[in-house]
Amino acid sequence: MAQSLATCIAPPGPRLRFLRAEDAPQVLAAFVSDPEMARQGTVRTLVEAEQYVRTVSDPASGAAWALCEGSILVGLIGITIDEQNKSGWFWYWTAVSARGRGWTARAAATVADWALSERGVERLELGHRVNNPASGAVARSAGFVREGTERGKFLIDGARVDVETYGRLASDPWPT
Ligand SMILES: CC(C)(COP(=O)(O)OP(=O)(O)OC[C@H]1O[C@@H](n2cnc3c(N)ncnc32)[C@H](O)[C@@H]1OP(=O)(O)O)[C@@H](O)C(=O)NCCC(=O)NCCS
Repeated sequence: MAQSLATCIAPPGPRLRFLRAEDAPQVLAAFVSDPEMARQGTVRTLVEAEQYVRTVSDPASGAAWALCEGSILVGLIGITIDEQNKSGWFWYWTAVSARGRGWTARAAATVADWALSERGVERLELGHRVNNPASGAVARSAGFVREGTERGKFLIDGARVDVETYGRLASDPWPT
């Protein structure tokens, strides 16, 4: 499975593999590189990074794929799976140093394709704040279809912020 994904993104580009315990220092580096990362979880120390890695890589909760440059993790694509409904909450982040290269979009498309085929999930869903347009671009590149707006979903710095919701079904057209 990891092999088939790795071959989807051919050398010399980025690679995908499952997240592992020794990735914790790079996870910490990514979180401290951008205050916005605080919305992805609480990772301020190596101990918290190790706990985060354990939590998101637990197969009981889903799957977490490390986006790597060489052997170094620079991003993460995750799915929190609801086995009963054969659905999954899809999420992603990339370290500041590796953004803007189109890697997250390609990795998200590859992992979503995997989830909707080999992993047997039938629906993926995600949401992003309207003031995070890059996340919406990643979602659309990965074949997600915009489904709606959750108005005033979050209270951030005293202002209510809308969230755009997206879904992708196994039967939807696949991204090229
Ligand atoms: C959102 C995030 C994952 C994007 O990562 P990235 O590596 O820069 O994304 P890519 O380089 O793959 O670019 C993907 C698309 O976003 C677009 N994009 C990048 N920055 C943008 C910006 N500031 N405004 C609008 N579009 C932007 C790119 O043009 C590209 O569009 P295309 O596929 O139509 O060409 C990254 O900014 C991040 O990790 N942010 C913090 C965590 C986060 O917000 N995660 C999402 C939670 S919902």
